[in-house]
Amino acid sequence: MHFPTSMMAAGLLVSLALAHPGPHAHATRSETQKRNVMAKRCAGAAAAMNEKRYSKRNLEKKRSLEARANATYQITTEAPYYEVIQNDTCVLTPEVTQGPYVWPRSQTLRQDMSEGQAGIPFWLDVGVLDMATCGPLANALVDFWHCNGTGSYSSFVDRDPNTGFVNLLNELNITDFEIGVTDLHTDDSTFLRGMWPTDTNGMMEMKTIYPGFYIERAIHIHAQVHTDWVLHENGTIVSENTVSTGQLYMPEELNVEMMKLEPYASHTQINRTTNDEDNIISQSTDGGYSPYISVVPADGVNPANGVIGYITIGVDTTDIQIGDAGGAGGGPRNTD
Ligand SMILES: *[C@@H]1O[C@H](CO)[C@@H](O)[C@H](O)[C@H]1NC(C)=O
Ligand SMILES: *[C@@H]1O[C@H](CO)[C@@H](O)[C@H](O)[C@H]1NC(C)=O
Ligand SMILES: *[C@@H]1O[C@H](CO)[C@@H](O)[C@H](O)[C@H]1NC(C)=O
Ligand SMILES: *[C@@H]1O[C@H](CO)[C@@H](O)[C@H](O)[C@H]1NC(C)=O
Ligand SMILES: *[C@@H]1O[C@H](CO)[C@@H](O)[C@H](O)[C@H]1NC(C)=O
Ligand SMILES: *[C@@H]1O[C@H](CO)[C@@H](O)[C@H](O)[C@H]1NC(C)=O
Repeated sequence: MHFPTSMMAAGLLVSLALAHPGPHAHATRSETQKRNVMAKRCAGAAAAMNEKRYSKRNLEKKRSLEARANATYQITTEAPYYEVIQNDTCVLTPEVTQGPYVWPRSQTLRQDMSEGQAGIPFWLDVGVLDMATCGPLANALVDFWHCNGTGSYSSFVDRDPNTGFVNLLNELNITDFEIGVTDLHTDDSTFLRGMWPTDTNGMMEMKTIYPGFYIERAIHIHAQVHTDWVLHENGTIVSENTVSTGQLYMPEELNVEMMKLEPYASHTQINRTTNDEDNIISQSTDGGYSPYISVVPADGVNPANGVIGYITIGVDTTDIQIGDAGGAGGGPRNTD
């Protein structure tokens, strides 16, 4: 998709450009309806999958809390975020939302992508559901990337997170930005980029930090699911097919609390875009599913000590994008 920046600045694309740093396509009506039907059909399966993971975690949590009975940290909140598991976290995402900071070369095969970045520890507990069967999707490579505590993406560290996207392109004299083609990367850093396959139960876990924010966007995590991928002997990964590309969000009340903490609180150069103000979120809910992660404090008490996010990503395996050069496909991946 081509978006001449002059057009962005002049025309009806302005709101789109401001709401999202980079072009974004709506799913078609029939695509949306199809996803809606699938999401409804698989809702029970998604809820059961969440419930199973949640109970397992609760057991582990109880054990670790007993062991830490003498811990000295301050308890400042009274109840877990959610008393019951949220059962509506089934995500089916319209494609082409990978944004301008997709950089497959820096995606690294690992289960802890925090790489020492400052922030609140965040464990993503992910289940992938095959919407064609409502069953778990095993051996699907789940790919995450997001910005750090003050809004910077690895591999793009010289791009100012406080400069609007149109201004950024203007500064670079780029007049014809094309997502997945125009190269905005500045370096080879890999922090907060990681991928890992689901197990036979369709589950995977990724450790990261709670993301910060950058200009014009709500706090979000990019996610992509690949079904057909190969790990070569030389350590590189090639994935040809992408079945889902999307962005995941956290509840606004939690964002408010988290952003009061460091290092997020020091990011004062811009005002944060809230979930309500973000256009992409409303587009992501078109299909009747939720792009929100259910987040609970890891210690059952205080999110400031770390949080666990439960998400079931429903993917339409009948709608596979082959060789999506933008984010999914081609090219060797980092596996250090
Ligand atoms: C989700 O939970 C609510 C309340 O517990 C329940 O009424 C609803 O049927 C559940 N939905 C699914 C899809 O399980
Ligand atoms: C907590 O401290 C008490 C008193 O020092 C000790 O008897 C107990 O074994 C400790 N509990 C744990 C779980 O370490
Ligand atoms: C985020 O990354 C940028 C670029 O590497 C760095 O300058 C900044 O200090 C990082 N933020 C935090 C909170 O570490
Ligand atoms: C963009 O163009 C201006 C004017 O021609 C020039 O001064 C500036 O150095 C260019 N910037 C870049 C990043 O190429
Ligand atoms: C790794 O191996 C694959 C498959 O043999 C090959 O296509 C690729 O070019 C190799 N990459 C590097 C960096 O050697
Ligand atoms: C943030 O918003 C407030 C209220 O609208 C405004 O006064 C302030 O200047 C804004 N700050 C920045 C950094 O834009």
